[in-house]
Amino acid sequence: MRKKCANTEKTGVLCSRKRRLEMDIRQIIEKMTLREKLAQMVLLVQCYQEDVFSDDPGKREFMREASKKYFDIDDPQDVMNTGGAIFVDGAEKAVEIQKKHLEHDRNGIPMFFMYDVIHGYRTIFPIPLALGCAFDPEPVETMSRISAKEASVSGIHIVYSPMLDLVRDARWGRVMESTGEDPWLNSLLARAFVRGYQGRSFDRPYTVGACIKHFAGYGAPVAGREYNTVELSEYSFMEFYMKAYAAALDEGAVAVMSAFNAVEGVPCSVNGKLLKDYLRGELGFDGFVISDWGTVGEQINHGVASDETEEAELAIKGGLDMEMYSSLFVRKGEQLVAEGRVSENDIDAAVYHILSVKEKMGLFERPFGWADQALEKRFHLCAEHRNEARRIAAKTFVLLKNENGILPLSKEEKVAFIGPYADTGRLFSRWGSKGRTDETATVKQGVSAKTRNAIFCNACDFTEAGSLDSGAAVSAAEQADKIVLCLGENEDMCGEGASRAFLELPKIQADLFETVRSLGKPIILLLFGGRPQEIRRISESVDGILCVWLPGTEGGNAVADVLYGDVLPEGRLSMSFPYTVGQCPVSYNCFNTNRPAKDNDRCTSKYIDIPNEPLYPFGYGLGYSSTEFSDLRQSDAEMNGSIVFTVNVKNTGGHPVTETVQLYIRDIKGSVVRPVRELKGIGKITLLPGESGDVRIRLDEKQLAFWHGDGTYAEPGLFKVSVSKNSLDVGLETFFELKKRN
Ligand code: GLC
Repeated sequence: MRKKCANTEKTGVLCSRKRRLEMDIRQIIEKMTLREKLAQMVLLVQCYQEDVFSDDPGKREFMREASKKYFDIDDPQDVMNTGGAIFVDGAEKAVEIQKKHLEHDRNGIPMFFMYDVIHGYRTIFPIPLALGCAFDPEPVETMSRISAKEASVSGIHIVYSPMLDLVRDARWGRVMESTGEDPWLNSLLARAFVRGYQGRSFDRPYTVGACIKHFAGYGAPVAGREYNTVELSEYSFMEFYMKAYAAALDEGAVAVMSAFNAVEGVPCSVNGKLLKDYLRGELGFDGFVISDWGTVGEQINHGVASDETEEAELAIKGGLDMEMYSSLFVRKGEQLVAEGRVSENDIDAAVYHILSVKEKMGLFERPFGWADQALEKRFHLCAEHRNEARRIAAKTFVLLKNENGILPLSKEEKVAFIGPYADTGRLFSRWGSKGRTDETATVKQGVSAKTRNAIFCNACDFTEAGSLDSGAAVSAAEQADKIVLCLGENEDMCGEGASRAFLELPKIQADLFETVRSLGKPIILLLFGGRPQEIRRISESVDGILCVWLPGTEGGNAVADVLYGDVLPEGRLSMSFPYTVGQCPVSYNCFNTNRPAKDNDRCTSKYIDIPNEPLYPFGYGLGYSSTEFSDLRQSDAEMNGSIVFTVNVKNTGGHPVTETVQLYIRDIKGSVVRPVRELKGIGKITLLPGESGDVRIRLDEKQLAFWHGDGTYAEPGLFKVSVSKNSLDVGLETFFELKKRN
């Protein structure tokens, strides 16, 4: 038994932080049996552990069966010694389980409690793809800070967020968890997520640890098919896909989740080049790596292991520290060590990574984290959090079309809200954690709180499972001056396991559109969903389009705020809307090819049946007023090579507007092909009608650098700078020469 400390409490050995630092973690490891070390390397599903700590002999017997049944573990003591649990359910349960665990764990090592808190815990925020559209780190950091506050008082230590997989293929259902297609924006937001979750110190209340995912490259499955393999050149990997993970780790994220997919033919969870050489060697990561759900036991499927023992062997030798859900490390670890296939040093290294994060997060002093039932009641869904959810949701909405200023709506005009999203609380993804649809502000509630001149009619279900009530739809539409069609995919049609080969609206919703369209009244499409959908046809026939994604607990209020002009639309697309699914994957930062597209020239890089350009490009979004850019100026290069670009923005319309100025570069010639555009800076400005103002964006020399096999650095030469409204807008252009450093 470890030395007792002055403040030992009955629930196990709790040491002061200072003593913990002195009592080197290695001393703990030295005292652990091999079996205890292996149990520390397993994260089990709490709901199956329910009675493992019970003193009731009957329940203990149940748990023996449960251990066998769920974890294939013969000895419940292994379950009791587990390194952590997922899906802990609130402060009371967390404290109860931790206490029982500490009573049974000879080494007094607190369990981790981990949870998928992707876009909120009890107060649900917009999906990350929407948060990316804010083109601003502040909403992301605020969302993460509030999520951490609500989750930590429920006993959660680690959240499986941010998801940092760069995405370009709207067929993949999990694009909704990403912040989009741009490495620079994703990196900026990755840091904001980590700052929000982890704060400045784990000693400060209501912080949680960030476990970034899915390492690495999971966002590029071949053909957009879920869990399909990933085929990326090392150059693309390092230039586009790896940057956000690296940024989050540089910001201090404490954990990494290894992805399901293989990279260069080696599954991530057993990929030593990825998890050891790169993650630890090049990035200097010192936290722990946990597998994604059960994927240690999926190496036979991958075809790289012949049995469970080899699966465990490959994972441990590949640098995986913790196994989620499956329990091969516990069941096969002793055999592997006995047979010399794995050294106990490998085991000790994994346990060290896990314990060092527990120590860094203060779990030895505060094993219950910030769990507090009273604070749960005070924080969860409190007015402040709901107000922030409403404010942030509005920032993520993207105005894609606004013919003749049909928006904003007037509270005096009669508007019919028709469609499955007109009156529903289903405004968040399946990762809605502990959010509840009956706590969600619906569109009907949000609009009704602003005006009595609105009617609401769902008219049909989201998909063909339901029926279309054309009569009700026509009746509602006939009473209105304008129609807002509330359409889009629902939470079951996006997210994990929801790749789609067709991206158009479900037929029943398309039929509803045709029914309403026949009345010839102005129509606004209010588009919900977890991905860019194929809306080309409908976009040609409606007068306005506001993309609101899955906006969360306050979604209906935020929708009403923007539709009625109380809040300005300022979102910009974080991911391109494809012209058609046949264009996927599509992204703005592509390479020029040997023969860039030319009209009337067959043998150039293009399709014969669609344009190369997406329907709406990355960075695109409108305001309620037009703007004009002028007078682009650039400062002399500062000592560190930075250059400041200044542009004047004028509101040339009749309504206040928030403009997002985007600075793109193009490296005209490199030792390898370089993207036609790369986002390197953003600046926002809000202007009254007729008002103008300057926006300044700094471009640092290190932002010109790109990955070479021997490092990341810029190459001297000519660069084009475009200051634009979106990634396809020519905007104002200038050039500068990066001089060779002596
Ligand atoms: C899932 C997901 C991962 C999630 C984990 C735990 O399969 O891939 O994103 O964090 O399992 O729920």
